[in-house]
Amino acid sequence: MKIVVFTSSLLILFLLSGCGGDSRVDSTTTNLDKELRTKIDGFGLTGDPSLNRNIPSVSDAQAQLGMKLFYTKALSLDFDAACVSCHHPLLGGGDRLSFPIGSEAMDPNLLGPGRLHKNTGNSFFDGGPTVPRNAPTTFNAALFDVGMFWDNRVESKTGEVGANGGGAGNIVMPGKSDFERVESLVGNLPATQALFPITSAEEMRSFGHAELQDGNAVRAYLADRLSGANGNNDLSESARAVWLEAFREGFNAPEANASTLITIENIARAIGEYERSPLFINNPWKSYIEGNTDAISEQAKKGALLFYSGY
Ligand code: HEC
Repeated sequence: MKIVVFTSSLLILFLLSGCGGDSRVDSTTTNLDKELRTKIDGFGLTGDPSLNRNIPSVSDAQAQLGMKLFYTKALSLDFDAACVSCHHPLLGGGDRLSFPIGSEAMDPNLLGPGRLHKNTGNSFFDGGPTVPRNAPTTFNAALFDVGMFWDNRVESKTGEVGANGGGAGNIVMPGKSDFERVESLVGNLPATQALFPITSAEEMRSFGHAELQDGNAVRAYLADRLSGANGNNDLSESARAVWLEAFREGFNAPEANASTLITIENIARAIGEYERSPLFINNPWKSYIEGNTDAISEQAKKGALLFYSGY
């Protein structure tokens, strides 16, 4: 009964305002909506940035292989960090730390708050974080067209909208140093980016293995660890057989052998496909663009207008 009374009094309120009870508020909102709609139309916003993009499903074979690679510590030289150590889906695709801890963690299996660096006696390694930049989320990696990393050092030459960086040869990336620019051979931005955390000492490479003198040597070593093609036996034969099977499925190549299939390029491509699969685009602003004028508050509408003004 109470509910009925409440509902009908709301209805009366609604009717009253419709009859000009407080038309000032209504007309301000309407004008704001109209103004904002002009901006939305002017910018051609559809609310769906995934339109006209080729985005894999997480259940695609290559994305599934990529997920395994994203979660394995076998891509860190000392088996103490994985991509997921700093980019966990339950931590928003990041690690909920200001600065991440990768290699030499006190407990390599602990992610997020509480992950500490081993105190190695060196004043730099005092238990605090060692990576000097925050780990951004990897969600929506399929929507990036210009570059990756805070400073875009993995960068598309064209930035073409919808191309996710473009194909092989269209992306430049650091070579022997961050300042040397070389062409990526692996395709889109997320795949190219995946070549780098494994070569960063603080993230996944760690500080030993002096014989591996540059990034490419580390990459070759890790690919060989999974394939065993050049005699690496860090992993057991049965573990390598599991990887071979996963790569055969991922690349739909049931007959291919480990040395041709388990390459650093394919590792990066598969990780890239996994990262490109999760899409988080449902939000109140999208709903507003699609026509639901109640989806965001008046304050948010004013904010949106400011955000899009000046162009
Ligand atoms: C120790 C933590 C750590 C690990 C491990 C790690 N990352 Fe990151 N990741 C970072 C940090 C920090 C950045 C930003 C670095 C920068 O911009 O210079 C980053 C940036 C990225 C970005 C770019 C996001 C953007 O918005 O530009 C992607 C994608 C990514 N990482 C994927 C990976 C993958 C794939 C792996 C495994 C091969 C991995 N990360 C391993 C910490 C980590």
